[in-house]
Amino acid sequence: MTFAPPTISRIARAHLTQDLDLTVDELTSLLDLAADLKRTPARYADALSRKSIALLFEKPSLRTRMTFELAIQQLGGIAILNDAQIGAREPLKDVARNLDRWVSGIVARTYLQRTVDDLAKWAKIPVINALSDVWHPCQILADMQTLRQHFGELRGLKLVFVGDGNNVAHSLMITSARLGVNFTLASPPKYEASPEIIATARELALETGAEIVITNDQNEAVCGAHAVYTDVWASMGAENEAAERREAFADYQVDDDLMALADKRAVFMHCLPAKRGEEVTDSVVESANSVVFDQAENRLHAQKALLLMLLA
Ligand code: CP
Ligand code: NVA
Repeated sequence: MTFAPPTISRIARAHLTQDLDLTVDELTSLLDLAADLKRTPARYADALSRKSIALLFEKPSLRTRMTFELAIQQLGGIAILNDAQIGAREPLKDVARNLDRWVSGIVARTYLQRTVDDLAKWAKIPVINALSDVWHPCQILADMQTLRQHFGELRGLKLVFVGDGNNVAHSLMITSARLGVNFTLASPPKYEASPEIIATARELALETGAEIVITNDQNEAVCGAHAVYTDVWASMGAENEAAERREAFADYQVDDDLMALADKRAVFMHCLPAKRGEEVTDSVVESANSVVFDQAENRLHAQKALLLMLLA
């Protein structure tokens, strides 16, 4: 059976600097398009033909970097990579105004969210946040694609994030609220999410009926969860806090006992890279209900959809 291709609708905002730059309709269209890109990639082989995109990485990456590079190639475009601190050798505003004379888009992984925002301010071409200290929107697109693929329907699912209230948790919380996914964040005291982002998520959740719960009790949090998600305890840039964080997060490891409190069909999720023995045990990552490699796979398809909706 052949499916009609979904129309590629343009994203109204010029950039994806954070999750809120996509409307709920755009988010839903993007997930539909990502599913079609996964099913029939050949249909889109020339969709970015003759377009060049700059990939700027201030921090290491396996998944984001390779899937963007592959996505651009498989859509017929050209990816150009640069690893450097943006704005260290010359002012950021000059970097942005050089790039926009050469390429059609910028994908940037930065230490500071301000760097992504300033690139978007100065460049006349779309800027995509490939992870900053506050957000990781591209990851969450692939995560929602994975959940939709696994459960069929997102609305009404219970997604529990156990760990650091940081970039991945922020993006998950906002996008869950907007898609009607009940979201619980269980973090140790002092490592909760940004109060402003929690307030925004709660406001957005009023429209979808999603429940946003913030707690320090990881055992209670995972009861009835359809998905349990975690991330490293010390993110890139916080490596010097690793020892104190290991102590603070010690009770928040996702292990088989914690997973046993979740729903029987619950999946385990992780953005990767995972530190087995810290935030998650090897046994949970390798378990039959782990979808971590589906998430990684979907980075490719979700980012292709994003590139097409911003640039095609
Ligand atoms: N999940 C993720 O963004 O992985 P990388 O850091 O390898 O890109
Ligand atoms: N929170 C992690 C995510 C890595 C994909 C970090 O920022 O390092």
